Amino acid sequence: MFVALEGIDGSGKTTVSSRLRDKLESDGIRVFLTHEPTFSVDSISGKLVSQRDAESALKLFFMFTEDRYRHQAEISEKLDQGYLVLCDRYLYSSFAYQGPLLEGIFGAPERVVAWMSGVSEIIKVRPDLNIYLDISADTAIKRIWNRRSITGFEDLQYLDRVRSYYTGVLRNNLMTINGEDQLDRVVNEIYSIIRP
Ligand code: TMP
Repeated sequence: MFVALEGIDGSGKTTVSSRLRDKLESDGIRVFLTHEPTFSVDSISGKLVSQRDAESALKLFFMFTEDRYRHQAEISEKLDQGYLVLCDRYLYSSFAYQGPLLEGIFGAPERVVAWMSGVSEIIKVRPDLNIYLDISADTAIKRIWNRRSITGFEDLQYLDRVRSYYTGVLRNNLMTINGEDQLDRVVNEIYSIIRP
């Protein structure tokens, strides 16, 4: 089984995925926990990440897709070995983060997503379940400020546009969980979906 966890920055994906791994492993399930991008965002030119224009988003979309293209081989290998694969961000992170900025080229979100879906046909390994932890951009910014300094991806207006992809054009592809809920409840809710 392949499960992807999606959400805007600060939604708790990283904490939730490691708690889920621990819970599933204590049931004797072998879990491979992985993350996208597989490279450090700090290694990308900071300028590119903080730009809010279509050309920069296009470049990032191709970079993340190429990274995923290589990553899927590792995921596929782990699935073949019988692991449950938990991936912190996957396909829909690219759609949600780069999508809003590509509207300048393609127009409405539906057209942006249609184009991105075409390019992403090279991604053959697809999650059985895409779980989306929904929090408001306000909550995200508060949590991020408490945690560490803000990276180029993280500003209120932009995160709100990213969220609008998850809750709008992408919503039918996602299983939405209230990420504003208590951590234990969020973990248990996802566990009860995956476990059976
Ligand atoms: P992380 O905080 O989950 O490590 O992700 C790093 C940043 O990369 C985060 O702000 C979201 C961004 N990102 C994209 O913009 N597009 C993508 O396809 C992925 C995987 C991440």
